[in-house]
Amino acid sequence: MTTLQSTTPLQLHHLHLHSESPGQLAEFYRNLFELDAVSAPDGIYGLTGGERAIVIHPGASGELAMAAYAARTREELSLLRERLSDVARDGGIGSEVFFEPGAFSVTDPQGRRLLFGVPRTRRRPDRMAARLQHTVFQTTDLATIVDFYVNRVGFAISDEVVADDGSITTCFLRSDDEHHTLAFFQGSNNVWDHHCYETGSWNDIRDWGDRFAKVRRGIFFGPGRHGPGNNLFFMITDPDGNRVELSAELEHVRAEQSPGVWPHEEHTLNSWGRGWIRT
Ligand SMILES: [Fe+2]
Repeated sequence: MTTLQSTTPLQLHHLHLHSESPGQLAEFYRNLFELDAVSAPDGIYGLTGGERAIVIHPGASGELAMAAYAARTREELSLLRERLSDVARDGGIGSEVFFEPGAFSVTDPQGRRLLFGVPRTRRRPDRMAARLQHTVFQTTDLATIVDFYVNRVGFAISDEVVADDGSITTCFLRSDDEHHTLAFFQGSNNVWDHHCYETGSWNDIRDWGDRFAKVRRGIFFGPGRHGPGNNLFFMITDPDGNRVELSAELEHVRAEQSPGVWPHEEHTLNSWGRGWIRT
C-alpha cells in the first residue's frame, strides 16, 4: 500500500475559510495570531505568519472551502498528482496565494476539498510558536470517507475510536510522521469541526491561554490531554464560531505502526476530565 507518509509526506499548510464578515475574521487572525496580509485576488484575504496561514473568501460562515497540504518538493507533488490523476482538478481561485503554480485539488465523496501544492516560501519560526497542524470534520458516512482518504489518497490510520456496538466513531489520519493531520468524527451532519495549531510546549499553551484571556475570549473545551495523539490542548472559537485548538506534545507515529483502538468515552477525548462527544 502506497502511503503519503512513506512516499510524499504532506503537512497541513493553510486553510481556505468562507466568511460572511471576511474583514472582521481577518482582523481576528491578524491580531491574535500575528499574521501579515499578502497579495490576493479581489475580495479575498491572504494572511500569513511563519508557520500559519489562512485565506478568507466571502461565503457562508463556518464553512471550510479547502484545506491546503504542502508537499516538500515539486518532484513529490508531481508524483502525487500522477497517482491521483483521475481525481485531480485545478486548485481554483486563491490557490496561488501561498502555493506555486501547479497546485491541484481533490474532492471527497461528500464535497470536501483538499488542495495539494508546493509553498512559495519556506516556513520559519513565529515569535509565539503555533504551527498550523491538523483539521477535523464531522461526517455522516465515516466508512466511505475513510475509505476515500486511506485507499485512494494515501492517508494512514493512526487511531480509531470504537463504540460498544463495534462501530467506528472517530478516525485519526496521518500524512507524515505526526499522529494526525486530518481526522473525522461520525455524526449527524457534514460540518467542519475544528482546526489546530501545534505549539512547542505546555508553557506555550499557557501563553496562548493568556493571550486569548486578554481579549476575553474564554476556553470552551480543555485544557486537557487527548487519548489518541496524547496531545495537550485547549479550544477557543473565532468570531465566526469556528473552533480553534492549541496543542502541544502531539505524538509521532512510525510508518509501519498498526492503528490503535480506543473506547468511545470521555476519557478518550480528554483524559484529564470532561470530554466533548459529538453527536
Ligand atoms: Fe484536534
